[in-house]
Amino acid sequence: MSSSRPGQRLALVGCGAIGSLVAELLEKKKSSFKVTALYDARLEAAQVLSKKLKSKPKVCRSLFEIFSHCDWVLEAASVKAALPTAEASLRKRKPLVMMSTGAFLLHQKQLTKLAKKYKTKIYLPSGALCGLDGLKAARQIGAIKSISITSTKPPRGFAGAPGLTSAQKRALEKNKSAFYLYQGDVWGAIKRFPANVNVAATTAIASGQPEMLKVRVVADPKATMNQHEIHAEGDFGELTAITRNRPSKMNPRTSALAIQAALALFERLESYVEVGN
Ligand SMILES: NC(=O)c1ccc[n+]([C@@H]2O[C@H](COP(=O)([O-])OP(=O)(O)OC[C@H]3O[C@@H](n4cnc5c(N)ncnc54)[C@H](O)[C@@H]3O)[C@@H](O)[C@H]2O)c1
Repeated sequence: MSSSRPGQRLALVGCGAIGSLVAELLEKKKSSFKVTALYDARLEAAQVLSKKLKSKPKVCRSLFEIFSHCDWVLEAASVKAALPTAEASLRKRKPLVMMSTGAFLLHQKQLTKLAKKYKTKIYLPSGALCGLDGLKAARQIGAIKSISITSTKPPRGFAGAPGLTSAQKRALEKNKSAFYLYQGDVWGAIKRFPANVNVAATTAIASGQPEMLKVRVVADPKATMNQHEIHAEGDFGELTAITRNRPSKMNPRTSALAIQAALALFERLESYVEVGN
């Protein structure tokens, strides 16, 4: 499919590593999703991206301005920005692709209620992960009895995380071997490492049992990839899914696969054949 169809105008909220590459690649692929509006808290980021794109999307000065120029919204900003973006998009009946899945988990009831009220869908891409198809199938009949995710990244991937203690900051600079930064539930992980554990939030949502998920966050000075390992056991059997991702060049916290997962979602949305559940 090529050229833009009515109803496929896409606004980006967040023009960083994910937003800018998704926009450029949608254009390169001649997707029917055409980026028509950009909003970023750093105006310059939106201006730079707009110049790069042939579609010359409108650079908006506020979140609310985007809604006159789009049919769909891609949130690729932050866990903090995702809630107001999602609420406004749903109220305007604009389907929303949400990268900051941690925000969805924190406000799941409220956002699901709004989505139903305005009959507008929220899409949570698989992001930097594989294995979610298996988890979603596993919970259809019988119970998942245990589930964990261990995310391991090079130390530079945790720079600026709000939950780092002073000792952890020192360890990130000095330690020569891998160490745990966090072990606990998914809600604590999102609060302490919001830019690193969207994968844990997505896993929790896909499993349908967020309270059961054990989250481990590891800094490994020897790591060159961002690795996520999901392990689940239940009536279905046992599942282990390991993804080793190259960090994005623009943002080492983000895996390149997360960008590609958003593209795959847009491909699925415009396709007449779907593969996988
Ligand atoms: N679901 C996943 O698997 C997955 C994987 C990687 C990243 N993420 C999440 O996706 C989001 C985007 O990631 P990224 O790597 O592109 O980040 P990035 O830091 O490279 O870019 C984020 C952009 O959003 C802008 N921004 C921040 N707050 C804003 C606000 N309130 N309104 C408008 N713009 C705002 C920033 O200025 C920046 O340009 C992050 O929340 C990240 O944690 C999810």
